[in-house]
Amino acid sequence: MNTVQPIPRPGPVPVELAPGVHWVGALDPGLRVFDVILRTANGTSYNSYAVRGSGGVAVIDTVKAEFSDAFFAQLEQVARYDEITALVLNHLEPDHTGAVAELLRRAPQARIHVAPRGLDMLRALLKDDFADYQVVKVRTGDTADLGDRTLRFLTTPYVHWPETQCTYLEEQEILFTCDLMGCHFCDERLFNDAVGDFRFSFEYYFDHIMRPFRRHVSEALDLIEPLAISAIAPAHGPVLRSHPREYITHYRRLLTKRLASEVAQKTLLIFYVSAYGATSQMAAAVAEGASENPDVRVSLFDLAVGEVAPFVDLIEEADGIVLGTPTINGDAVKTVWDLLASLVDIETKGKLGGAFGSYGWTGEAVAMVESRLQGLKMRVPVKGIRIKLHPTLPELEDCRDYGRQLSAHLTGTAEPREIDFASL
Ligand code: FEO
Repeated sequence: MNTVQPIPRPGPVPVELAPGVHWVGALDPGLRVFDVILRTANGTSYNSYAVRGSGGVAVIDTVKAEFSDAFFAQLEQVARYDEITALVLNHLEPDHTGAVAELLRRAPQARIHVAPRGLDMLRALLKDDFADYQVVKVRTGDTADLGDRTLRFLTTPYVHWPETQCTYLEEQEILFTCDLMGCHFCDERLFNDAVGDFRFSFEYYFDHIMRPFRRHVSEALDLIEPLAISAIAPAHGPVLRSHPREYITHYRRLLTKRLASEVAQKTLLIFYVSAYGATSQMAAAVAEGASENPDVRVSLFDLAVGEVAPFVDLIEEADGIVLGTPTINGDAVKTVWDLLASLVDIETKGKLGGAFGSYGWTGEAVAMVESRLQGLKMRVPVKGIRIKLHPTLPELEDCRDYGRQLSAHLTGTAEPREIDFASL
């Protein structure tokens, strides 16, 4: 519920970043939850920019639909619609494209510059009107000519969606990054050297928006780092005009502290919850078996402590995770689901996954967890183990063997699997 009452202000006014370059975005101080999951302690901004050259005006991104009036009111103060020759869409998510359709109705001559992967999304956005406009698919190195100003495009997928790109204003060395290096922080003072302390928001945004795509973010930084940069102009939060390179360095640090590993071996994390000690015994046996492989470092954690957040960093670094859970009321236990739910913030694709657990009556939990691991694009090369009530000594040996097989898959020494077609 929005309880924030805005202070009445005169109409929106564009803010000059540099000669001919204006912020024409919108402030949303009342927003408390963004995209259903992100908390925003003081709202956000939807930053849109207008760049004037001797041969035309470019609009870079727009705003969320309900803020269109403020956007158009500001844009009209810096440009006429018939002067707009280029519309640059660095990202097609609705918080940046809410005014696109109306802008094109007012400036139908504008050529739309979008990354090739954005084309389908643009078509869906404009529906039947799509065919009425000129669309230019741009890749790294392509430019848009504004006369005495040039916009150069950098293809930077997955910062945040597949079609995201950055745009560089060559003559004034301003980099428009959309979500990259943005944050949900609403402050009408706009510039990083004038607004309140936004460090928490900057890192929180990185953790929730960028972190799942850290490999792609790293590749985007590779493209950006060689540029001379006077300001970074993202689509949310402060414009970074003071020491902009420090923010790139900070992003590198946020990425590399998780990329760096002290461990030369493969890492396997085993998490478990145990109601009567049976799943705990299985966990210990799986760990024993996995640890026989000298090239795998195995760690064992009891999730009964109830908190899962501290484990997310570990899992991000790990090569594999195995989850032990009893089946209770036909389901895995809540702590295990909590841990799995928290993995959406990190990249899990390609990691090894596994599951095991004791059960009393039905034993669905292991298959349910395996299915979720596969949903997270992890590979589950060995079928998990279910044991009724407490494990016998031979069953514990089965658990050790399960651990051995997991380690073998981690180190690439697993026997080729023979598929039993009769069981399919
Ligand atoms: Fe700010 Fe991914 O949209």
